[in-house]
Amino acid sequence: MAARIVELLRPALDTDAVDTPIYVDATLGAGGHSELILREFPRVRVIGIDRDDSALEIASARLASYGDRISLHRARFDELSTVLSDAGADRIDAALFDLGVSSMQLDRADRGFAYSVDAPLDMRMDNREGLTAADVLNTYSHGDLARVLHDYGDERFAGKIASAVLREREREPFTTSGRLVELLYATIPAATRRTGGHPAKRTFQALRIEVNHELDALRHALPAALAALRVGGRIAMMSYQSLEDKIVKREFALRTTSTSPAGLPIELPGTAPRFRLITRGAERPDEHELEINPRSAPVRVRTIERVAEEVVS
Ligand SMILES: C[S@@+](CC[C@H](N)C(=O)[O-])C[C@H]1O[C@@H](n2cnc3c(N)ncnc32)[C@H](O)[C@@H]1O
Repeated sequence: MAARIVELLRPALDTDAVDTPIYVDATLGAGGHSELILREFPRVRVIGIDRDDSALEIASARLASYGDRISLHRARFDELSTVLSDAGADRIDAALFDLGVSSMQLDRADRGFAYSVDAPLDMRMDNREGLTAADVLNTYSHGDLARVLHDYGDERFAGKIASAVLREREREPFTTSGRLVELLYATIPAATRRTGGHPAKRTFQALRIEVNHELDALRHALPAALAALRVGGRIAMMSYQSLEDKIVKREFALRTTSTSPAGLPIELPGTAPRFRLITRGAERPDEHELEINPRSAPVRVRTIERVAEEVVS
């Protein structure tokens, strides 16, 4: 989808409206999208954000040749306003949120994101703070654990899994993913396994979202990014699971709808939407994309453009 993202953001970055357009890569990762943008738009300056220091290390080596066209920040993307003021930017021209976990994080066994290898149950994107996945399993009440598994993993057997976890941790606290995967195999009925994918998939997703407060970060970051966008600027969102996509869809719908009371024959002054949708619904990867990058299968892309300033009352 990288080429598609470039096209969606092109009108905001290849513009005469500003001398040095600013692109925020809110999820820098290995810097792949940023590199494409830097190459494609020679006047653009990139502000890159990631909460994971190993991502920043890799991206800064990859983008080093772009010198002062890049400024990279270790932060959560909901700290966008602080990052922008540190970088001396008061407005932005485009932003990309390529949400979730990176291939690099999944492939590093010691981070504990993958259920296919036995590794410490960490799952923190930022290893400086907060509970690990093992802490969640070892300390949450039955109710809280079941809620996390149900709400963030859409797990039908959330209550049953929570009971099994509480029983097992009495014997010995959880430390590695292998033991959790074993427990899930033993707890989720075999008949469901044939249709529901790998039995650990939903639990691992739920733990990751909880450990990293992924949905709250997104809920707070979106309004800050939209507020910083100049007229004509665009934001592209890539979501990999329906909870993220729902948050994006709702926020974009709200921003692109008039606030005039329904049923009035005319739109009241100051109530016209300040944004318009660029993508109709969510765009999905085509067959060619799926062939070259099977991990892109679940992605949904939505893009919005600012068309007017906020009304200051
Ligand atoms: C899917 S990867 C991005 C890949 C990137 N677009 C590239 O081209 O390499 C997502 C990245 O976002 C980071 N991330 C996820 N949530 C974040 C948040 N709330 N704040 C900052 N970074 C976050 C992760 O650490 C990960 O490196």
